[in-house]
This record gives sequence, C-alpha cells and structure tokens, in this order.
Amino acid sequence: MQKNNYIVGFDIGTKKTTAIIGEITDEKKIEIIGIGTGDSKGLRKGVVVNLEATIEAIKKAQEEAELMAGVAIDSAFIGLSGAHIKSFNSRGVIAVSGRNKEISGEDINRVIDQSKAVSIPPDREIIHIIPQEFVVDEQDGIKDPLGMSGIKLEVNVHIITAGTTSVQNLKTCLSRAEIEIEQIVLNQIATSFSVLTHDEMELGVGMIDIGGGTTEIAIFERGSLWYTSVIPIGGDNFTNDIAVGLRTPIPDAEKIKKKFGCVSSPLSDEEETLEVPPVGRGKKPRILSRQLLADIIQPRAEEIFRLIDNETKRMGYEKSLNSGVVVTGGTALLEGLEEVAEEIFDLPVRRGDPIGVGGLMDRVSTPDFATSVGLILYGYNQWKEKGISKDRKRGFWVKMKDWLREA
Ligand SMILES: Nc1ncnc2c1ncn2[C@@H]1O[C@H](COP(=O)(O)OP(=O)(O)OP(=O)(O)O)[C@@H](O)[C@H]1O
Ligand SMILES: [Mg+2]
Repeated sequence: MQKNNYIVGFDIGTKKTTAIIGEITDEKKIEIIGIGTGDSKGLRKGVVVNLEATIEAIKKAQEEAELMAGVAIDSAFIGLSGAHIKSFNSRGVIAVSGRNKEISGEDINRVIDQSKAVSIPPDREIIHIIPQEFVVDEQDGIKDPLGMSGIKLEVNVHIITAGTTSVQNLKTCLSRAEIEIEQIVLNQIATSFSVLTHDEMELGVGMIDIGGGTTEIAIFERGSLWYTSVIPIGGDNFTNDIAVGLRTPIPDAEKIKKKFGCVSSPLSDEEETLEVPPVGRGKKPRILSRQLLADIIQPRAEEIFRLIDNETKRMGYEKSLNSGVVVTGGTALLEGLEEVAEEIFDLPVRRGDPIGVGGLMDRVSTPDFATSVGLILYGYNQWKEKGISKDRKRGFWVKMKDWLREA
C-alpha cells in the first residue's frame, strides 16, 4: 500500500510517459525519490488511441520509478492533454444568504456552483472550475471574499472541459495498470506549478509547452488562469520536416534534430557540418551544413509562434503578457528557439526549466519533465490544502492562492 506521504505524477505524453514519485519529508517539503519513463506508442497528439501500448508505457514508467524509489505506488495525479480540451470563462451570481450579509464559505461554494450552470454538450465533461476573481456589490478584483459584507456575490471562473471518451480511455489505461487516479489535471495547470513564478502569474504570462505531438498554451494574469488551448503541432512536425528536407529516415531525422538542431539561422556556424544517413540501401551518407538544418527548422518554429500570437490577439489577451512568454516541453531544448519567439511576440521569452522540488531533481530539470514535475507539485499543493481546509470548494480557493507561491 502506498503511504500517504508519497505523491505520484504520471505525464502520459505523445512521446514519452513519465512517472515521478515524490516523498513528503519530516520538514513537510517534497523530494523526488523515483523517476521512470516509457516510450509512448499508444497516443496521437496527446490522446490515447491504443490502450495496450499506453498501458505498457505506464507500467514501464511505474516499474522503473518504483525500483528507483524502493516503494510501491498505487495512486497518482494524471496529466490530461489533447485538442479535445476546450476552455471558456463563465460567471456566477448569487444573493448573499446570511442575515448580517456576511459572506460565508457556503456562499462561496454556491456562487462557484452557479458559475458552472452552463450547458455542456453531453459528450463533454468539466475537468476544472478555476475561480479568477470575486465581485462583491460591483467591487471587483477580490481574491477571497470570505467574511466580507455584501448583498450580491459574483465570481468569474475559467471552466475546462474535455471529451468524455478521451478521458474515459485514459481512465481505462490507468485502471488496467492498477493505478488509482487521485485527480486528472490539465497539463497546463500542472506545468505552471513547475515553470512559472509568482510574479509572472500576477503580472501576466504566456506559457507554451511544445511536446512531441502537441503544443499546449496557457495565459495567466492576476494570479489566475484565463485562457488555455492545445494545438496538434509539436516536435514530431520538426522531425518530419527534417526527414523530408534532408531526405533521411525519421529515426535519423530525430537524432539529427536532437544533436544538431537549432532555429535562429544567424546562430549556427556556417562552417559547421553534419553527416546525414540516406534513405534506401546502397547510398552513401551525405555531409550537409548545419545552416541547412536551421533553415528547415526555422519556418516551423515561426509557424507555431505565429499561430499562438494570432490566437492571443484574437482572444484579446495581447495586453496580458506583461512579463512575456515562457517556452517549455522537450522541443524547448532546440537551440535558439527563444530568440525566434522573442521576434514574433515582440516580448521577452525564457525557457521554462522545472524547479521547486528537492531530491533527485537534477535528473528531471530539463523542460521535457516540466509537466511530470508540475504534477507532483500540484499534488503537494493538494496535500497542503487538506491540512488547511476540509471543505472542498473553499479549499479550492486556498489552492488557487497557493498557486501564487513565492517565486
Ligand atoms: N535536445 C532536443 N532538441 C530538440 N528537440 C528535442 C530535444 N529533446 C527532445 N526533443 C523533442 O521534444 C519532443 C518531446 O517532448 P516532450 O517529452 O515534452 O513530449 P510529450 O510530453 O511526450 O508529448 P506531448 O506533450 O506532445 O504529448 C520530441 O519531439 C523530441 O524530439
Ligand atoms: Mg507533454
């Protein structure tokens, strides 16, 4: 049996499945004690399309992590991704019930409940309801209205919904791997815990996680989440472009990308060359310049960032990104990617390496582990929250406040 001082996160990505086991120490800090990965072969663009292959990757990651940690796990926080995820902002309004018009925990629960009274198609389900701010008698921008006096209480929330069948397939995989789900967490929410700072979330920041099959986007401002989206383009597209452009097999293109890949053309040394394995037998490897590789990668990077820039403007968040953009996910390892993003967004851009955990953190400090590290930080927050409040929805707001953790 898994003891309750272990927190486990599973990032079931398109490229790899990662399991991380965190232990809560006597000082009530969280430390990584186990890490396991498995090649994901059962997902397409963030969604399970092959149960057996996904279960295999989950089990492989689990076994590796358990072996390293020397503990058995049976429950975990699970990341969710895919273009089926939709999000929108909603609002709830209630009349404050108490005789002295003092806002109670009950009122807060009621107004949040009211905010989800919107029609959701039958093939979708709500994953998260995230309070952004409360409004008490027209006074907006209130983060915690408990105990305040007022007649009318309103709340603005961000609601995240997902396709029921995609969620069900994910649940089936975990159930078949005999892992109990603590909670399904939107990847962007998990990732934000490991890569964003308190100040960025307050001032306004765009977070872009470019994985293998997807790019996940989130916009935070005033300490809360305002916009999320998932686009079905990722690192695999770069690899395909290289395979076509250099006429080399996909596995070789992947290796070349990881070893020599760079984006901003002026960055690459013009003299630098690389050996490209040919497609088909009997042909000799060719020597090409690294510049050529940069010229293939660059347009794809620009395409992704332009798409996001257009989307941000269309949705009216152009002025929200006051502290700039954070790029994470495995593809953020491409040399020069931040510079290209900086040019397109005309904002400061930094790479999001996961931080905030002790123990074996140095093994997972690259952006391809941002979501898995974020999941255990999310779980850790839930654990702390339980100590603060037994009341679930009231606790949710406490958790939101915890998002504003010290940078
Ligand atoms: N050093 C590197 N340089 C360039 N790209 C890299 C590097 N290392 C990994 N990648 C790319 O990062 C991608 C995998 O990233 P990540 O592990 O974040 O994906 P994932 O979470 O499995 O997928 P997704 O989030 O799309 O479901 C792959 O396309 C891989 O080629
Ligand atoms: Mg990912």
